[in-house]
Amino acid sequence: MRITMIGSGYVGLVSGACFSDFGHDVICVDKDQGKIAALEVGRMPIYEPGLDTLVATNVAAGRLTFTTDLKAAVAGADAVFIAVGTPSRRGDGHADLSYVFAATREIAEAIDGPVVVVTKSTVPVGTGDKVEEILSELAGDFPIAVVSNPEFLREGAAIGDFKRPDRIVIGTEDARAQQVMRDIYRPLYLNESPILFTGRRTSELIKYAANAFLATKITFINEIADLCEAVGANVQDVSRGIGLDNRIGSKFLHAGPGYGGSCFPKDTLALLKTAEDYETPVRIVEAVVQVNDNRKRAMGRKVIKALGGDGANGVKGKTVAILGLTFKPNTDDMRDAPSLAIVQSLLDAGVTVRAHDPEGMEIARGMMPEVTYCRDAYDAAEGADAVAIVTEWDIYRALDLKRLAGVMTGNAMIDLRNVYPPADAARAGFAYSSIGR
Ligand SMILES: NC(=O)c1ccc[n+]([C@@H]2O[C@H](COP(=O)([O-])OP(=O)(O)OC[C@H]3O[C@@H](n4cnc5c(N)ncnc54)[C@H](O)[C@@H]3O)[C@@H](O)[C@H]2O)c1
Repeated sequence: MRITMIGSGYVGLVSGACFSDFGHDVICVDKDQGKIAALEVGRMPIYEPGLDTLVATNVAAGRLTFTTDLKAAVAGADAVFIAVGTPSRRGDGHADLSYVFAATREIAEAIDGPVVVVTKSTVPVGTGDKVEEILSELAGDFPIAVVSNPEFLREGAAIGDFKRPDRIVIGTEDARAQQVMRDIYRPLYLNESPILFTGRRTSELIKYAANAFLATKITFINEIADLCEAVGANVQDVSRGIGLDNRIGSKFLHAGPGYGGSCFPKDTLALLKTAEDYETPVRIVEAVVQVNDNRKRAMGRKVIKALGGDGANGVKGKTVAILGLTFKPNTDDMRDAPSLAIVQSLLDAGVTVRAHDPEGMEIARGMMPEVTYCRDAYDAAEGADAVAIVTEWDIYRALDLKRLAGVMTGNAMIDLRNVYPPADAARAGFAYSSIGR
């Protein structure tokens, strides 16, 4: 199979590299020349564990190449995947489809034979219909099928997720396209990963429903955590107590500072917009979005309170060390990270922020220039009144707490990921607070 991947970001690059590892010939396209130039010399434009080796192996085998020349890459392809971004449209929360449609128009002009065009980007119901319209208007008379194939990988575990997915969802009723998609995913098919064939609109909705459900699960346990704090219960035990029930399941039941990242915030909003357009409200998701937004700001207030402040007052001139900036560990992705809202509320209150993150600081620097970026956790904590664990990177799981407390001016620790047993933190001299315990 000859596969062209349009967009070489987190999803396009991982999917392209994995498809080439299955034995297909893959060309990854991006309009960002810097990204392609980096890839051509073996430098990864994103941090994703294992990606550099996977890319290097398949480039060396001659199955994976990179280009900015979309036209040449599309010519002769059996399947063209669209994996460009679909961020929230500024102002209204609808998915911004301008990148998808721009890519579709470019693809249309480059098509030179029968081809299957696959949207891997997360797109609202009906987008495939519009992609098909554009192609049939601009692409001449070649047989073209448009398929929805949403991606469910998690950043930080993307390669494993892609190669051992819980399921592959393929939205098309076109028999030839079904066969092409079956051939592309054959290695996984042989591994007995379930392939679910659905209508295109159903497939588009599955992705949003999945993300909205997961966001709901997180938000649910976060509210239960608040209740635990109020009644003197322990949310970790509650999570275990409900998660062992097979009907509930233990995943996504870790209380924390609220969900963030490149998918849940924008996808929940986009689902609500679709629901609004079709006059079919999804009230649970409306509540989830509102609760989560409030929560991120509440986390800033929680840190301020631990500093001895009240609301946003009384902490001017204090210093806080933030450990972890990315929205989760093992990625450099800062999109909609809870740290952004927390740091902003601290800066607004006149607090000096020192921060460390193993992979996210380069991107964070551009987004939060007022923050002092530090060498490691101990450097960040130097002279701080409080330390807040915002992202549970492994290196923050085994800190020398006595040493950490020793370099600080104050002794507050706000553990927003429940990394430490309260007794350990207290033994090291910390005035410790966490989530729902
Ligand atoms: N990041 C995730 O974990 C994840 C998981 C599942 C699904 N998704 C979905 O996948 C899609 C892509 O997400 P991402 O995180 O990889 O985005 P990204 O921003 O990392 O990558 C998108 C890339 O597309 C490129 N691009 C845009 N228009 C182009 C064009 N016309 N031609 C060539 N390149 C073009 C951009 O330069 C960028 O490099 C989104 O719809 C997202 O919702 C993301």
